[in-house]
Amino acid sequence: MNHDLRNILASVQLMADRLEMSSDPLVGRVLPKFIASLDRAISLCQNTLDFGRAEERAPEPRRIALKPLVEEAAEAAGLADGAGDPAIRLICEIPADAEVTADPEHLYRILLNLMRNAAEAIATTSRPGDVAVSLTEADGATVLRLRDTGPGMPARARENLFRPFHGGARQGGTGLGLAIAAELARAGGGQLELVETGPSGTTFEIRLPD
Ligand SMILES: Nc1ncnc2c1ncn2[C@@H]1O[C@H](COP(=O)(O)OP(=O)(O)O)[C@@H](O)[C@H]1O
Ligand SMILES: [Mg+2]
Repeated sequence: MNHDLRNILASVQLMADRLEMSSDPLVGRVLPKFIASLDRAISLCQNTLDFGRAEERAPEPRRIALKPLVEEAAEAAGLADGAGDPAIRLICEIPADAEVTADPEHLYRILLNLMRNAAEAIATTSRPGDVAVSLTEADGATVLRLRDTGPGMPARARENLFRPFHGGARQGGTGLGLAIAAELARAGGGQLELVETGPSGTTFEIRLPD
């Protein structure tokens, strides 16, 4: 929870950074304190993370509309509007009426972790990129596929895939995101899989139980 709370606060921080361009005097007065408080909250999460992980609550699956959830997670991961430099875009290939059975908060956190990783990976290339999300079926199961155009996963991350604290291969990372995402998928009766990673990008699949 701390890991994801920190991620959410980090996206608020991104938005706050953008406010720095505002010429509104009220913004100018409030923003420094606002940013300092956010920094404190983020480091509190970080420090708590260092002490270990708590147990997740049991999933409560229900029928949910997929597209809005994907778009919400993408926005929180800094993807949706294609702003930013380099521009990182969401390509949402989910039909507007698609529904899945899942715990909405758990699925949101899985998506947020995967998309944030993809956005971070693309950002390191200093080139624009995108994350495509699509829905397929395999052996009767519903499969959500996330394909990014990033640089691929470093060896350390590949070799320690889904191992908490071990797979982190970037500055400021904890190596928890993928482990948490895999755990949440498993707890819901599904599975998170790395399909492919290489210089032209990385593809993950979330298999949801039927
Ligand atoms: N889509 C991706 N493209 C490239 N590298 C990735 C991608 N997703 C994850 N990684 C790599 O895997 C590592 C582990 O990711 P994660 O478990 O989320 O931990 P963290 O993001 O805190 O480092 C990252 O540090 C990164 O190097
Ligand atoms: Mg991560």
